[in-house]
Amino acid sequence: MPTIQLENITKIFNRGQENEVTAIALDSLTIRDGEFISVMGSSGAGKSTLMHILGCLDSPTAGRYLLNGRQIKFSNGRLVASLRNRLFGFIFQEYGLITQQTVLENVEIPLLFSKSTFKYRKRRCMDVLDALSIGEQAKKKCSQLSGGQKQRVAIARALVNNPELLLADEPTGALDSATARDILEVFRELNAQGKTVIIVTHDPTVAEICTRHITISDGVITEDS
Ligand SMILES: Nc1ncnc2c1ncn2[C@@H]1O[C@H](COP(=O)(O)OP(=O)(O)OP(=O)(O)O)[C@@H](O)[C@H]1O
Ligand SMILES: [Mg+2]
Repeated sequence: MPTIQLENITKIFNRGQENEVTAIALDSLTIRDGEFISVMGSSGAGKSTLMHILGCLDSPTAGRYLLNGRQIKFSNGRLVASLRNRLFGFIFQEYGLITQQTVLENVEIPLLFSKSTFKYRKRRCMDVLDALSIGEQAKKKCSQLSGGQKQRVAIARALVNNPELLLADEPTGALDSATARDILEVFRELNAQGKTVIIVTHDPTVAEICTRHITISDGVITEDS
């Protein structure tokens, strides 16, 4: 199970150009196994950039990323891709589903990179979909689902590889408040089962269910409690 340490991490976009932006400039941040963390901060504060770095979707401009005490070399693209696929599950505000494909096809995507058989993949997808109470929708096209159902499919896709850490960027931003509560309950249960969960949110009631609260302002952590 992973502990992540970021040390002196910066992320600078458009370096050396007129429109250079320092999106992240952290002294240190440690994420321990099993934590349930909210990340808040105004628009442009660097929340998504931080999530992308934590999940190895993007590399820092400078600094050290330690996974269980070992430094990740971002120059090794193949290694980083395999870590990302094995350890992290991503959930986004706009679901990121392929709407013209079925629920099952969408959830299967992360498994296509493994050597598993079709039979195994189907069973694994159905198990995860059933656990999220959405197995009955498996053959429907994603375009035919409600927002809450779409977000459950996105969570199923994030979970299908059994990742250890879930990174959710505004996962309830597009949902009404009752549906948002259902989705938060899903995250709470996953955390209770031992997964590390990090949620970016603008909504204080979402942050409330988390047990650690990080606030970012201009790329710097201003609160961590
Ligand atoms: N690919 C990029 N190229 C250039 N600048 C970027 C890029 N991604 C982010 N930025 C800049 O980095 C800063 C942080 O952006 P980021 O997306 O992390 O903010 P955020 O806190 O997630 O905001 P929001 O709440 O609006 O999603 C902003 O100034 C943004 O314009
Ligand atoms: Mg963002």
